[in-house]
Amino acid sequence: MQSLPITPMTGDHIEPVLAIERSSFSRPWGRLAFFSELACAHSRNYVLSGAPLPDVNEQGIVAYTSMRVIIDEIHLLKIAVAPACRRLGIAYRFLRDSLNLTAHQDIKSAFLEVRSSNTAGLCLYRKLGFETIGNRPGYYPDSGEAAIIMKKTF
Ligand SMILES: CC(C)(COP(=O)(O)OP(=O)(O)OC[C@H]1O[C@@H](n2cnc3c(N)ncnc32)[C@H](O)[C@@H]1OP(=O)(O)O)[C@@H](O)C(=O)NCCC(=O)NCCS
Repeated sequence: MQSLPITPMTGDHIEPVLAIERSSFSRPWGRLAFFSELACAHSRNYVLSGAPLPDVNEQGIVAYTSMRVIIDEIHLLKIAVAPACRRLGIAYRFLRDSLNLTAHQDIKSAFLEVRSSNTAGLCLYRKLGFETIGNRPGYYPDSGEAAIIMKKTF
């Protein structure tokens, strides 16, 4: 599949992003959380849109990601792909390219945490070069499951 355009997320993208968010997470972020990220100077938020894919929403938003830059580190907060568009290699290319867009020359590493049951997330991150560096048992209060901490070195 040809590359789809990545653009910075704006307030105009929030409705389709929220729809994907609600269909992707057991404890989804609300509107306010996304607007807080958009207002945060350290935050980088991107959306991916693509006409050739199943029509997921009016604006054609297929995926989104949020990350923060803290001195020489990237902290990945979110990535989700619309359910109808999964298993097509979209997250892999979108996250790889979003990290490259964000990782200026001083960035040394990227960190994230993921639920231990999230096989898709864990496999995606490993494929992108993240390695497990820690495990926080009972981190998620809704399920009691552990958070796996992962790091990628640039
Ligand atoms: C995780 C997620 C973003 C993957 O998106 P995707 O576009 O389907 O992923 P890709 O097609 O790019 O797959 C890349 C790799 O991820 C892994 N992967 C993706 N979906 C998988 C699944 N259901 N089971 C196992 N591995 C999976 C595979 O290693 C895959 O590589 P491969 O195709 O060579 O086997 C998507 O499932 C999603 O939005 N899930 C809900 C939100 C979420 O859990 N986000 C991550 C935590 S913040």
